[in-house]
Amino acid sequence: MRRILLFILPILIIVALVFTIFGIVQVNFEENRLMDDLQRKAKTVAESAELSARYILINNDLRQANRLVESFQKRERLQGCVIYDNDGNVLSVTDRISEWSKKDKPYLKEVLNTKNPRGALEKFKEYSVYSYVLPVLDDEKNVLGVVEVIYDTSYVFTTLTELWRHISIALIILVVSITLIMALLQRRIFILPVLQLTEWFHLFQKGETDKQHPITKEKGEFGKLASEVEQIALSLRIARKTISDKAQVRLQKEELWTEAKLKDLVLAKMGENALYVVSNREPYMHVIEDTSGEARCIRPASGVVTAIDPILRACGGTWIAHGSGNADRKFVNSKNKLAVPPEDNRYILKRVWMTKEEEQGYYYGFSNEGLWPLCHITHTRPIFRESDWQMYKKVNQKFADAILEELPAKNPFVFIQDYHFTLLPKMIKEKQPNATIALFWHIPWPNPEIFATCPYQKEILDGMLDSDLIGFHVQFHCNNFLDTANRFLESRVDTEKFSIVRAGKETFVRAFPISVDGYMGEDVERCSAEIEKLSKEFELYNKIVAVGVERIDYTKGLVERMYAVDRFLEKYPQYKGKFVLIQLAAPSRTHIKRYHDLMGEIDEVVEKVNWKHSDGNWKPIIYLKKHFSPEEIKPYYALADVCIVSSLHDGMNLVAKEYVISNKKLDGVLILSRFTGAARELTDAIQINPYSIEEFADAIKFAMEMPVEERKRRMESMRKIVTENNVYRWAGNVITELTALKKG
Ligand code: F6P
Repeated sequence: MRRILLFILPILIIVALVFTIFGIVQVNFEENRLMDDLQRKAKTVAESAELSARYILINNDLRQANRLVESFQKRERLQGCVIYDNDGNVLSVTDRISEWSKKDKPYLKEVLNTKNPRGALEKFKEYSVYSYVLPVLDDEKNVLGVVEVIYDTSYVFTTLTELWRHISIALIILVVSITLIMALLQRRIFILPVLQLTEWFHLFQKGETDKQHPITKEKGEFGKLASEVEQIALSLRIARKTISDKAQVRLQKEELWTEAKLKDLVLAKMGENALYVVSNREPYMHVIEDTSGEARCIRPASGVVTAIDPILRACGGTWIAHGSGNADRKFVNSKNKLAVPPEDNRYILKRVWMTKEEEQGYYYGFSNEGLWPLCHITHTRPIFRESDWQMYKKVNQKFADAILEELPAKNPFVFIQDYHFTLLPKMIKEKQPNATIALFWHIPWPNPEIFATCPYQKEILDGMLDSDLIGFHVQFHCNNFLDTANRFLESRVDTEKFSIVRAGKETFVRAFPISVDGYMGEDVERCSAEIEKLSKEFELYNKIVAVGVERIDYTKGLVERMYAVDRFLEKYPQYKGKFVLIQLAAPSRTHIKRYHDLMGEIDEVVEKVNWKHSDGNWKPIIYLKKHFSPEEIKPYYALADVCIVSSLHDGMNLVAKEYVISNKKLDGVLILSRFTGAARELTDAIQINPYSIEEFADAIKFAMEMPVEERKRRMESMRKIVTENNVYRWAGNVITELTALKKG
């Protein structure tokens, strides 16, 4: 709009200027013409009265004089007539202007002296009138008296005002017409070709057209620009094809799954930047620091982020997530996008905004007070509010719209994360049936009896089953899901193929145990300075250190862990002063009462256990309640002799795998709840039932006393499992399955 104005404004100013000058000339001309006309008329009338006036003045016939002046009464625009004697005294005056006699008329003397007629504008009451004064002479040229004719001039001003009005209307019509014509011309000549070229570039890039752009055939500047753009688009396409072919060759050679191998797989099967990931939690969040007031970028404590970020770093693509940081809006472009990681741009993050009401109903309400406790067996009652459900549907639609805006027209791949988006597959498929969709469920799936308590069970399953592939961490959760679909929907469950067929549509259900980046261990070795700093700060020399890394969530068994430490020290007091548990705890979902209460409960238990067992400077639990970045967590893993994961129920638990992969020295021990998905793979961990405080306390002792050789053997075996089954393999498996289902 600003550009159009810049273009049109100078033209309009010139047109307005020319028109105004023309108007002024025209009005002046008209004014002169009307005044001339008036003057001529006044003169004619005065001269026609002169003869009668001469007779009247010679005979001093007052009756005749009155008759003469009254005969002017009915003349159009003529106000009246006055007859004066040769001293300038009024003899007779038309009734209508009788007031005129009282007016001071210095010009009369001049006319009587010079014997010349005189015409001029005069003021009468509030108006301007035209007076024409004619001396009446006898045959010897002596002055007998004077005849004055008074004309109304208002019609001159009315005519001139009318003329100005016409000129102004014509100017407005001209300005509007010029603006419209210029805007249309500008659109036709400049904007449309640019829009067409942009659209064509967009489609060509995505491989949705192979046609040459029509403008490239033009000779002018646009033609040149278009053929340059066409060249670039073609080179990009060829480069992509070459990369994809090379990737295919490399893929067949490599054995262990690495970032490079995953990248090759994605390039070979999908092409560049072809992956669209959706999750609630964003991988990079901009927040204002309380202390400095400055914005900084943090990595949220989230299993989804830990797993998916390395994949998008490797393959590029677009990640769509809730922009929940309080400084997030400052860092996006006009399309709400930014390149991440901030220091090494590898992929696009598109942020979706939510109102407080939407966040409350969809995230805190339905997702985390409803579905989260429904899926985790931890004896926390799910709460299903109709208003939360309505908001959940609204937000799912909001995300669907944000994704659909991004998807190319031809067969895109969409990878949806978690329980926040059960309705998204259906919403996307409704608008884009050729999309291939995978939904990964990062938490457990309950058995049908528990799922039956959800009032929206049918809509949820209906939404999910528009996915082509649904993934869970373990086979047990897949089985629960198949049983649930079988129980609640009119569908056919194929136990051979592990799929659900419903209304002619088949959804495959698979277990993909998620994992971590196998290279994490390399970085851990480099943090000796941080380890030294922490050892000094917390006086860890000669102590056996256990570490726990969690969001503060009731599923993580944090209270049980503190009671287990308490019991361990009660049962085995010889470890007092020698054992320390460092618990890193990131506050999470704090607006939910259950989480808020849990924070208080943990504070209380930690305080109680520390008070009970502390001795001098030593206390058994160092409780660090704040957000830790992945970089900040690494030295804790490195210095820990033991890592404790005591979830009451957990889809997988990546902390267990992170610790294993970080323990390159093979001297650590993992205590792992058997209610985690990770327990199925990490069988060399000390597996515990976190509800059994006795067993848990004994497990801590067992870990403390485990011989070096056994530690090494167990850790070696677990590291092998996690290294081989790393997150690149997980993604590789999902993508291989997904691309095998590719539409079209
Ligand atoms: O792993 C389950 C999960 O809900 C993820 O979806 C999420 O990233 C993580 O826990 C943390 O939860 P939140 O995103 O609600 O902080």
